[in-house]
Amino acid sequence: VIDPEPNNKLPTPLPAEPMEMASAWLTEATKRAVAPNPNAMTLATATTDGAVSARVVLCKQMCTDPGYLVFYTNYQSRKGAELLANPKAASVFHWDTLGRQLRIEGTVVMSPPDESDRYFASRDWGSQLGAWGSDQSKPIDSRDALIAQVRSRGRELGLDLTDDTQSIANDPAPEIRRPPHWGGFRLWASVVELWIEGADRVHDRAVWSRTLEVGPDNDVVCGSWSVTRRQP
Ligand SMILES: Cc1cc2nc3c(=O)[nH]c(=O)nc-3n(C[C@H](O)[C@H](O)[C@H](O)COP(=O)(O)O)c2cc1C
Repeated sequence: VIDPEPNNKLPTPLPAEPMEMASAWLTEATKRAVAPNPNAMTLATATTDGAVSARVVLCKQMCTDPGYLVFYTNYQSRKGAELLANPKAASVFHWDTLGRQLRIEGTVVMSPPDESDRYFASRDWGSQLGAWGSDQSKPIDSRDALIAQVRSRGRELGLDLTDDTQSIANDPAPEIRRPPHWGGFRLWASVVELWIEGADRVHDRAVWSRTLEVGPDNDVVCGSWSVTRRQP
């Protein structure tokens, strides 16, 4: 374990709010390139019956004030459908070489469409085509059928794909609009845990919590944070 600070402990007293530190940890993991995807997080969702599923997604933004993170996905995927029916999620980042774990739990709302548009427009055309080409989480007969589907949707978008699908013949590529079924989710933090690995498994943990109230226009009213240290 790389000791990122001389004294790798949570500060005393604990900060009144956790998101600044959470964001600083993500920034540090990114700067130090601790893994190919330092912004990867495990995201757990659940059906309305409480059946839980988890998968890795990339955190594309961490907004410290008022406190949410953003990830992008297909709204009709398994996770998307679960979140639209039951907008609760838990996420976990693990930066092994830094000896740090970050957990963020809370309520999920769809990102504003213009924010998703801007992010989609910033992606390369291959990723944009992928968002159109894949009905994420749905079954498909074969890999060949998937490639054929991606190619045919590419043609519908006006792309002149070369034989290997990975490259495009028209130059410049036509502008690809965001598919309506693809965009961002904001995970608003109501519980945040910062965890630092300690000697002899006497780790350092603290948990911050606050209430969240989601209004009709996806506006979120946040209560104030309270914090307690937890036994490891
Ligand atoms: C490192 C990594 C990053 C990923 N990033 C994303 C992502 O940002 N968005 C996404 O929808 N899927 C991402 N995936 C794929 C998901 O893990 C998952 O397979 C997919 O979203 C379908 O999940 P679902 O069927 O549970 O909805 C990523 C996978 C890995 C391993």
